[in-house]
Amino acid sequence: MKKTPNQKKGILINCVKLSKSYQFGSEQIHALKDVNLEINKGEFVAIMGKSGCGKTTLINTIAGLLQPSQGNVVIDGKSLKGMTIDQLSLMRRNTIGIVFQMFNLHPGLTVLENVELPLLFKGIERDKRRNIAQEVLATLEMADYIDNYPEELSGGEKQRVAIARALTIEPKILLADEPTGNLNSLLAKEIIKLFIEINQKKGITIILVTHDESLINKDMRLIRLKDGKIIN
Ligand SMILES: Nc1ncnc2c1ncn2[C@@H]1O[C@H](COP(=O)(O)OP(=O)(O)OP(=O)(O)O)[C@@H](O)[C@H]1O
Ligand SMILES: [Mg+2]
Repeated sequence: MKKTPNQKKGILINCVKLSKSYQFGSEQIHALKDVNLEINKGEFVAIMGKSGCGKTTLINTIAGLLQPSQGNVVIDGKSLKGMTIDQLSLMRRNTIGIVFQMFNLHPGLTVLENVELPLLFKGIERDKRRNIAQEVLATLEMADYIDNYPEELSGGEKQRVAIARALTIEPKILLADEPTGNLNSLLAKEIIKLFIEINQKKGITIILVTHDESLINKDMRLIRLKDGKIIN
């Protein structure tokens, strides 16, 4: 296959003239306005900005969960524009791990079963699923909790499980939307340390959305959004 110039330069995520408007009653809300953003393989990008500036909209558009009103997202040389819903979920299943503020763990499943879930969707057989999930949980120091249910865990532990779940598919990209928003500052710092480790040891490209300036450090490229535009 002929490589696009983007792949040659090592760009993994390319947002091209991305705009997204929502219809809100009779009003149009312009959540993203002509956003251009290139993210290289292995980068750690932090996105900051006030509530309502478009952070979640940007992350969800990159994940293919939202369709842009204009523009395009290119992931690993593949254009999301024109992909069917099935093709988009396949792309996510193979390429993107997502971590949310509210953890989004399944309350009726144990820690191990929660972490296995993405592998089940990929059609991986049971023993292999179990092994991978156990291994990832062990690296996040959650091996002792595999038979617990989410409600039995602290916020920090829940977020570790959610991160483990995102990592099982060995994603190229990890998207995290306010992953520390429900944690105290000590736990938040621990989770950020974990993200930095994942980025540096596994080479996974990370986009982290946060409100909290104190979590930004030199390992990250900081991008500020204001009213749907990148301002730095
Ligand atoms: N489904 C929707 N329908 C209508 N408007 C929406 C919808 N989702 C988001 N918006 C609006 O789009 C703008 C951007 O929202 P977005 O959720 O991306 O902001 P955010 O930066 O993630 O905010 P927060 O920090 O509060 O999570 C806001 O004005 C919001 O009210
Ligand atoms: Mg948000």
